Amino acid sequence: MKTVWITGGSSGIGYATAKEFLGNGWQVIISSSNEKKLQSAKERLIENNKNNLLYSITCDISSKENVNDTIKYIENNIGKIDIALLNASAYSPNKDQVFDISNYELLIDVNIKGTLYCINTLKDFMKNRNNTIAIISSPLGYRGWPTAGAYGISKAAQLSLSETLYFDFKKLKINIRVICPGFIDTEATRKNSFKMPFLKSSEYAGKKIYDRLTKGREFEIIFPYLIVYFFKFTRILPYKIYFYIWNKIGKF
Ligand SMILES: NC(=O)c1ccc[n+]([C@@H]2O[C@H](COP(=O)([O-])OP(=O)(O)OC[C@H]3O[C@@H](n4cnc5c(N)ncnc54)[C@H](OP(=O)(O)O)[C@@H]3O)[C@@H](O)[C@H]2O)c1
Repeated sequence: MKTVWITGGSSGIGYATAKEFLGNGWQVIISSSNEKKLQSAKERLIENNKNNLLYSITCDISSKENVNDTIKYIENNIGKIDIALLNASAYSPNKDQVFDISNYELLIDVNIKGTLYCINTLKDFMKNRNNTIAIISSPLGYRGWPTAGAYGISKAAQLSLSETLYFDFKKLKINIRVICPGFIDTEATRKNSFKMPFLKSSEYAGKKIYDRLTKGREFEIIFPYLIVYFFKFTRILPYKIYFYIWNKIGKF
């Protein structure tokens, strides 16, 4: 039986992906930092799937010790992790464009350091097993977007890290993959005050992630294509044009 560990499995994309893996006979471990929220997610997942392959472990990924203990526990007591889906993330849009250092610190701690802590312990267990670490980044990491400073730098860091580790972890026989979804309707994006084009459900995202992680081996997983390619296209725009467009759209 194969095992997947999903960080941030208590809501949104992580929850929907856990449901897909469970439905397809995988052993699933979900973790997140809020014990009550995690327990409620576990109960809902069990209700839909009674095959007893679900575990939940409270784990705040911004704590190195917590992450270390969680991975050790899974590997020694539940099963060897075939896929680690590093999905957990903090998100806080900044529509007033106020520079708030505590928000930057939070997102650096959770999204950047948290991802690094997971990888640091996973690499010791997963080496030479041809297993997969998949990091969920975002198209908001492709460029600097107005109002997305803290989130944007954390997602850009995850993208850059994924590309580097894709090369470096070949030696360890660990597959690194990166996932960049377009707009998905979740607790996080409900905080946005703008209309999100091509908004898709978390169930849609869960299915895409399950299918592509288990049936393909490509480095990059993106969906839906149209909006993510649009984000990608902005990467090649010279600053003059990029800034002009934002000024026209929103007087930024
Ligand atoms: N939704 C989108 O449109 C979209 C687009 C592109 C990329 N993404 C990426 O997709 C991933 C999931 O996002 P989502 O929209 O599904 O967000 P979400 O519904 O807010 O879920 C975030 C998950 O992360 C957990 N989490 C937050 N802080 C944590 C911490 N310190 N330690 C452990 N877990 C923590 C949350 O649970 P607790 O509160 O219990 O900790 C929750 O389970 C993120 O990496 C996000 O950047 C989302």
